[in-house]
Amino acid sequence: MQWTILGAGAIGSLFATQLLRIGQSVNLLDTRHAQTPHQQLHPMLLELLDGSVCMCELPCIGYRDLSAIGNLLVTTKVWQVIPALKPLVGRLPETSPIILLHNGMGTAEWLLRHFPHNPLLAGVTSCGALKTDSKHIRHTGFGETWLGALNSSGEQCRELVPYLADALGHTAWSEHIGERQWRKLVINAVINPLTAVWNQPNGALLDRTEEVAALCQELHPLLVKQGFRETPETWCRQVLQVADRTARNFSSMHQDIAYHRKTEIDYITGYLLQQAEKQGIDLPKHRQLYLKVKALESTCTNE
Ligand SMILES: NC(=O)c1ccc[n+]([C@@H]2O[C@H](COP(=O)([O-])OP(=O)(O)OC[C@H]3O[C@@H](n4cnc5c(N)ncnc54)[C@H](OP(=O)(O)O)[C@@H]3O)[C@@H](O)[C@H]2O)c1
Repeated sequence: MQWTILGAGAIGSLFATQLLRIGQSVNLLDTRHAQTPHQQLHPMLLELLDGSVCMCELPCIGYRDLSAIGNLLVTTKVWQVIPALKPLVGRLPETSPIILLHNGMGTAEWLLRHFPHNPLLAGVTSCGALKTDSKHIRHTGFGETWLGALNSSGEQCRELVPYLADALGHTAWSEHIGERQWRKLVINAVINPLTAVWNQPNGALLDRTEEVAALCQELHPLLVKQGFRETPETWCRQVLQVADRTARNFSSMHQDIAYHRKTEIDYITGYLLQQAEKQGIDLPKHRQLYLKVKALESTCTNE
């Protein structure tokens, strides 16, 4: 089966190399270019969790190489998704599935509007990867990956799951992918901005449980509107469990600020603020955190 990775960063390179290892055909799409020089190959070196190393070379394609595009795995940062997909609007064959794999929410509406006939899917993954330079990727943790449909033709793509399970380990189909995205969104909306603002690893939250509890409490009315039944205390416990399990890690938002990169805050806390406003719910603590991260982002990225 042909797979195309749009966004060969940390997670995209992990998916690419693991699919290649099980004998799948994989290429790398860069939609910032119409075409790449003939037969350009991108070398990659993947360090696996057991310390072994896997080297490979993957063909690169541009947005005019439409016949080479297979199952399109979109693994850019969330704010790069729409600009990365724009050059394919009206060009991508309607049979090509598009699978969004980012953290945060808010891109699916655009995708449904611009690619209404393609099979559309969303994925949630807790696999971990780190890109140390343009050619080196480190697999940093096993995790679970869930795929689910965003439209009715996406429902026909369950056949993709066994390939990803073979390549990555636990991968399953979810009938409720939106719910899984929301659950991850809530965890990210607490851990990511707090660790970015405090400049601390995830485990630091275990010493700041009151602030975590207050953020979960504030989100509760919105979560109830979304159909979740958990109490604020249960949400708080879930956030703290993730902080405990990943205590020594730095969140991606912390790392983005530390390396002067744009963060995903607009599609995490920003998305929650938008959804709350639609429901007439105020989230002052989350808004304050949002503004603090935006201030840090603007000082360090000169945006
Ligand atoms: N890393 C993890 O362990 C992990 C785990 C779970 C979920 N996630 C989520 O997965 C998403 C990706 O994260 P990541 O850590 O892999 O980010 P990343 O390393 O920054 O990868 C994104 C890649 O997309 C590339 N890109 C941007 N626009 C493109 C375009 N038009 N065409 C081709 N490539 C393009 C970027 O290139 P440039 O660098 O040149 O911009 C970069 O290489 C995020 O939403 C993240 O939250 C990550």
